[in-house]
Amino acid sequence: MFDAIQVRQDFPILSRLVHGQPLVYLDNAATSQKPNQVIDAISEYYRQHNANVHRGVHLLGDESTRLFHQSRRTIAAFFGAHPEELIIVRNTTEALNQVVYSWADQHLAEGQVILTTELEHHSNLVPWQQLALRKNMRLLHVPVLSDGQLDFLAFDKLLEDNEIALFVCSHVSNTLGTRNPIQQLSEQLKRTYPDAKVVIDGAQAAPHIPVDFEQLPVDFYAVSAHKMLGPMGIGGLLVKRELLAEFSPFLFGGGMINEVRLHEASWADDIEDRFTAGTPDVAGLVGWAAACEYLTQLGMKSVEEYDQVLVRATVEKLVQLPEVELVGITQDRELHKRVGAVSFLYKGVHAHDVGQILDSEGVAVRTGHHCTMPLHRKFGWPATVRVSFQVYNTLEEVDKLVAALDKVKQVFRL
Ligand SMILES: Cc1ncc(COP(=O)(O)O)c(C=O)c1O
Repeated sequence: MFDAIQVRQDFPILSRLVHGQPLVYLDNAATSQKPNQVIDAISEYYRQHNANVHRGVHLLGDESTRLFHQSRRTIAAFFGAHPEELIIVRNTTEALNQVVYSWADQHLAEGQVILTTELEHHSNLVPWQQLALRKNMRLLHVPVLSDGQLDFLAFDKLLEDNEIALFVCSHVSNTLGTRNPIQQLSEQLKRTYPDAKVVIDGAQAAPHIPVDFEQLPVDFYAVSAHKMLGPMGIGGLLVKRELLAEFSPFLFGGGMINEVRLHEASWADDIEDRFTAGTPDVAGLVGWAAACEYLTQLGMKSVEEYDQVLVRATVEKLVQLPEVELVGITQDRELHKRVGAVSFLYKGVHAHDVGQILDSEGVAVRTGHHCTMPLHRKFGWPATVRVSFQVYNTLEEVDKLVAALDKVKQVFRL
């Protein structure tokens, strides 16, 4: 496994102070910090190569185009996908909306059933609600149990009772850290309904566990660069090759056309061009590719193992605090089913107050509903405190979190 202390040297922001204290950044599920390798790659692009892609007959245009394609290849390879299968978007939210407008709108019909779950991020729920409303489709939800796992018996029953056209599920829950068994669920779905399609929200999986798109029996997989050490404003939608022919562009304009006449146009044969309308974020792509290379160098297997070390230590420390109530945790604490994040309630103190006191101690966490309002509503949590990890977090930081939680007790005289 890699040495997190050494990894920290690559992240300049980690050496700054907040409120006079060393920063303990535990808000990685919202966005991760960026290593020098990513910052430098973006800076180098603007300092040395900036030019628009494809249209230039000059050296900088060539260099920029080469970097654009090279970065696409690096990112696609990171996810075990062919470059053609990677559609560049701004983030996971846009990727999921792209499935709606480029595929679902044309291939799903009134009365058909979309199956999702109760633990989805709003970005993987609201687009499907809108689609269902617009097309008069049915939207059903796999319940989540109090141990944070999906109710698999209910999943079986939902499949038995309804012909599912589309299954939409997160790989890892951003609130509970639940790692959903998407391989098994997708296989079961496709055995029952061979024409059904599967959309996976990979926003919280891509930063922590190896993802091999080719091997996964899913059709679409959405990711954001900024949660996996890359820059904000760039992300991807992976689309299985065999579906690309029935995937239509929904952004039209320069760069994605073959021929344009006054009243009609045809789209580029090259798939990479067809879905890149307008000037792409080349610097963002270059930065994202640098992030993929960085994670590859650490080794995604090691990244996954290290995350488990942090999650386990956090859960084991927090269960000892009587004032802390972990949410969505299995009785026997099957921690391998939890990735990246741990959320909790603090008895008698609102999550926002906990967050503020932690902040005053230099510990950055997220409080609120984490864009999973239906999940919070279901269990009656007004708001939760979420700590979430990245490769630069350490066991010492987990101890600092615990010490800062003790401060909450002192402030509120509990
Ligand atoms: C599981 C999940 N899905 C989707 C999103 C949306 O990601 P983005 O804001 O990058 O579009 C997030 C962001 O927190 C997330 O955690």
